[in-house]
Amino acid sequence: MRVLGIESTCDETSAAVIEDGRRVLANVVATQADLHAVYRGVVPEIASRAHIENILPVLRETLERANVTLDEIDAIAVAHRPGLIGSLLVGVTAAKTLSLVLGRPIVGVDHVQAHLFSVLLDNDSDVPLPAVGLVCSGGHTALYLVETWTQIRRLGATLDDAVGEAYDKVAAILGLGYPGGPILDRLASRGDPRAIDFPRTLLGHESLDFSFSGLKTSVLYHVRGHKGRERTAESLTESQIADVAASFQAACVDVLIEKLSRAAAKFDAKSIVIGGGVSANAGLRAAVAKLPLPSFVPTLAYCTDNAAMIAGLGCELLARGIVSDLLLDAHPASAIV
Ligand code: KG4
Ligand code: ZN
Repeated sequence: MRVLGIESTCDETSAAVIEDGRRVLANVVATQADLHAVYRGVVPEIASRAHIENILPVLRETLERANVTLDEIDAIAVAHRPGLIGSLLVGVTAAKTLSLVLGRPIVGVDHVQAHLFSVLLDNDSDVPLPAVGLVCSGGHTALYLVETWTQIRRLGATLDDAVGEAYDKVAAILGLGYPGGPILDRLASRGDPRAIDFPRTLLGHESLDFSFSGLKTSVLYHVRGHKGRERTAESLTESQIADVAASFQAACVDVLIEKLSRAAAKFDAKSIVIGGGVSANAGLRAAVAKLPLPSFVPTLAYCTDNAAMIAGLGCELLARGIVSDLLLDAHPASAIV
């Protein structure tokens, strides 16, 4: 069974071909990071226009790299939620067109659910279920109970910023580039995580929700002084910036690990899975590996947005007889609540 996946929820145009549910034959990602960098965040109108330009070249390159023709595709999976509506519509329209022309089934995939599934790509090991899952990215930070790969319940979510968004904003406060996550991750490895005692917002003893806006404001005050404009990041030395990065990262990781541990204990989880852009973070990956349960993280290429995870979950849905049709619509919100 070969599934073609399409992903266009935010600012990456991606297509992939998967064989037998987990084996990635090709995964092509056209990133728009450069187009949005000047605005330090994704501009929806620019994103949808770029998806229109990228979608056909990306599809062509994917088929070439996978060494398959369209006739050899058995089904099409597309991320149809959650995301920017103008961006989603480009992928959904391309998928529907292919489904109609090729006469192959189409299946709509929830992008957040696919981030959890990404731990299975190019991976032969079995993930013991139920698992507690963490999706941490620029748009999402939420905990899930994964009963099966298609039965997922949300346990908690951020009340304000996503953790990736906090990384991007802290990088902006420090005068670094966009996206900020990978830059701060690199700097953190050179800094002292105990240099600054940034707050760990846990929201009460049992809460499985998150809040990162206080941490972000705390970094702002530390860097710019208590009125937020007494000085700028330019007055900091390289080693001070590395200490801010390391201390900020330690605060984020402590909170994510504490919430994962709480949820795992509460729901008697047999394993931990993480996904989303921030699951590429070296500090988080090291901390998750130390948890007293089997833990699964995606290969680096499948942490950030990609179509391989959409095709993989699409395959799983099809195997369970879950298919969509040409009335498939794009939705800004996830279906998992
Ligand atoms: O999953 P993703 O590609 O898109 C969304 O669905 O949001 O995640 C992008 C986010 C950005 O905020 C980026 O700064 C963050 O993931 N990110 C990281 C790292 N790599 C990407 N954050 C921390 N450490 C990293 N190594
Ligand atoms: Zn994502």
